[in-house]
Amino acid sequence: AKDNNVNTDIVTLTRFILQQQAATAKQATGELTLLLNSLQFAFKFIAHTIRRAELVNLIGLAGASNSTGDDQKKLDVIGDEIFINAMKASGNVKVLVSEEQEDLIIFDGPGNYAVCCDPIDGSSNIDAGVSVGTIFGVYKLLPGSKGSIKDVLRPGTEMVAAGYTMYGASAHLMLTTGNGVNGFTLDTQLGEFILTHANLKIPSSRTIYSINEGNAAYWPPIIKKFIDSLKQTQKETGKPYSARYIGSMVADVHRTLLYGGLFAYPVKGKSGKLRVLYECFPMALLLEQAGGKAVNDEGKRILDLSPKEIHERSGIWLGSKDEVDKFLTFTGKV
Ligand code: AHG
Ligand code: MN
Ligand code: MN
Ligand code: MN
Repeated sequence: AKDNNVNTDIVTLTRFILQQQAATAKQATGELTLLLNSLQFAFKFIAHTIRRAELVNLIGLAGASNSTGDDQKKLDVIGDEIFINAMKASGNVKVLVSEEQEDLIIFDGPGNYAVCCDPIDGSSNIDAGVSVGTIFGVYKLLPGSKGSIKDVLRPGTEMVAAGYTMYGASAHLMLTTGNGVNGFTLDTQLGEFILTHANLKIPSSRTIYSINEGNAAYWPPIIKKFIDSLKQTQKETGKPYSARYIGSMVADVHRTLLYGGLFAYPVKGKSGKLRVLYECFPMALLLEQAGGKAVNDEGKRILDLSPKEIHERSGIWLGSKDEVDKFLTFTGKV
């Protein structure tokens, strides 16, 4: 009997990108296709390495620390090396910014793209087996550029692609190239990312808030009041919001994209914790493309920020449109 559960017409990431490039013929140079193939190789290799981590005891501190002062875990270092090698080998990346590299990297040889990445996001959770991920954002080099810091100190609105791969029970890649958001799941037997969440849209509202309450003492009073207001019985639902916080941005944002809700990491002390180029911009672009919003503590659109240095940080509020609007209204930003 025909087993009609077998889908014999699966859409791989490569096929999807080629179809999308063909549809938007204006940029069908195939360059982005090539770049995304190098990116997906990096994700497959990192996924493979994380799976083996517990077995070959890669867990634990590498004894080093990076420019942002994080204790680097061995997987942070290995993830960074895998990513650098994959981008170098791609032949079309000229500039690379990585959380784990103090200065930006300019590769020899040709390349029309600048990539900003967080090779392993949520690394403090690695030892507990909690989902971690890789976050990336892509700029096309400025016209006539030979590759310099000017190619990446730009607003997030100029990114041509962005997304993340979350290494959970399966590896999930959520990607935008400026025409909505599509989700792919890695089939390890095939070694292919398969389209599983076509044209994903975030629910317009959801009574879930996601924030590290342990930082409440550092928040300005208005933010404390806003978060406290979510804990009251809401007139629309007759109950308070639910609190969900994993501590890996990729995992918290993935849940927010799929379920809806509000994720926030406000400024504490002089600056925020999350980095603009390889955490805030890629997630903000994804959320907007999925019909959501992303703003900073002052209510300014994240994508309109102009970073002045490659590890610059920002406060961030992202998620369902109605939930971000609730924050903006409460704090008088609209
Ligand atoms: P990374 O592991 O790449 O340094 O990022 C960690 C970030 C982000 O993943 C998460 O949202 C945030 O740190 C959690 O910070 P707290 O532990 O202070 O809540
Ligand atoms: Mn880190
Ligand atoms: Mn991170
Ligand atoms: Mn990281």
